[in-house]
Amino acid sequence: MDIAVVGSNMVDLISYINRMPNDGETVEAPDFRMGCGGKGANQAVAASRMGSEVLMVTRVGNDMFADNTIRNFEDNGIDTKYVMRTDATSGVAPIFVDPQSRNSIIIVKGANAKLTPADVQGVKEAIAGCKLIVMQLEIPLDTVYATIELANELNIPVLLNPAPADPALLLDKVSGVEFIVPNESELSLLSGMPVDTRADILNAAHVLLDAGIPNVIVTLGSKGALWVTADKEVMVEAEKVEAVDTTGAGDAFIGCFSHTWTRTGDVAASIEAANKYAGDSVTKRGTQTSYATAKEVGL
Ligand code: RIB
Repeated sequence: MDIAVVGSNMVDLISYINRMPNDGETVEAPDFRMGCGGKGANQAVAASRMGSEVLMVTRVGNDMFADNTIRNFEDNGIDTKYVMRTDATSGVAPIFVDPQSRNSIIIVKGANAKLTPADVQGVKEAIAGCKLIVMQLEIPLDTVYATIELANELNIPVLLNPAPADPALLLDKVSGVEFIVPNESELSLLSGMPVDTRADILNAAHVLLDAGIPNVIVTLGSKGALWVTADKEVMVEAEKVEAVDTTGAGDAFIGCFSHTWTRTGDVAASIEAANKYAGDSVTKRGTQTSYATAKEVGL
């Protein structure tokens, strides 16, 4: 197994809107799509479509969404042995995409909130052979912390995507990760620093480096990503694309980065590939529906 994703799955309910309604107002939206999402599942699917062997550790509910989510993992070649059914609703995410391709997302964690540290201990043997463990913050923080401890014990590197931003996340509890991949607002929250300029971003990244994390990769949307370590900063620019829907682009980036890094160990080249993969995803609608295979995107 190449990659274990310990994280979330959601059903994305995507409305393509002209504008958000005001208080008490009803507005009509021109289009709607339902699809499989959730940051963990998205990252797993992206890595798998790139060609990695992926194991998913997650909890689905006991409703009509659960079977579809499991089938979707299977269709994408992901190992579902540790996709656990739960006496809860499945996670859902109502999403609103405006004509400028910007998105607003509400998440209802449902079963994802019931993924426990004990669940992760239960998959210790299965994840022991992985080259990378990938996590986000749509599962309980205690589970994130316990997984990092387990990964450190097993000597497996961890990539943490601290999304969605969570003010309760404790930096010293995640200092054992190899990579942290925040966007600008997540970096600001985690470091307690402003991120208005390049100098600000570097200073904020150094707060995470000082906490003991060796690689900080700040995603900058259409501009690309900035990789910062104790002794260097590398800006990897993204190519310009015509965006129609940016939902899940950050997850596409992480899935492709994880795949490429576990194959090559080359961080800069992995960011370059991830920029290209995420850039391709925003030219199509939906979350996982916008993720290409390696061949389709020319990687
Ligand atoms: O990052 C995009 C994802 O965030 C969506 O798929 C939605 O489910 C939320 O988890």
